[in-house]
Amino acid sequence: MERTFIMIKPDGIQRGIMGEIISKIEKKGFKIIQAKLFEPSRALVEEHYEEHKGKTFFNELINYILSGPVMAMEVKGEFAVEVMRNMIGDKDPKLAASGTIRGEFANSMNTNVIHGSDSIESAHLELDLWFK
Ligand code: GTP
Repeated sequence: MERTFIMIKPDGIQRGIMGEIISKIEKKGFKIIQAKLFEPSRALVEEHYEEHKGKTFFNELINYILSGPVMAMEVKGEFAVEVMRNMIGDKDPKLAASGTIRGEFANSMNTNVIHGSDSIESAHLELDLWFK
């Protein structure tokens, strides 16, 4: 069974749609096997988004993730990485299909409700980072 790292971002928590998102994950048949609602440190968030260091949106991205609590989750199930990415939808609101979590709840590239690992390799790294 595959495992992936999912994070409900601060706007998802602040808007009170955490339960709805968790419900979609559970209804898909996935199991949430670890979860914590907390305010991550700047060091943790910067390491998570290390690949974007130096890009124009990096500081804005880090400050947004630090703007409130996030829900970090380990999600387990058949093809969890790819299926969760499909359920999340594109980060560009113009491309996020309706029916996806971002398609339904997000209308901004900067605040887009949820993160999911983009490969099995990054899922391992991110789960180690967030749940070590
Ligand atoms: P995450 O699940 O958050 O990692 O999003 P993603 O995998 O769909 O996208 P990616 O890893 O490429 O980018 C991470 C985050 O950086 C996105 O969710 C956006 O919030 C932000 N981001 C990425 N590219 C851009 C961009 O071109 N402009 C802006 N403003 N933000 C961006």
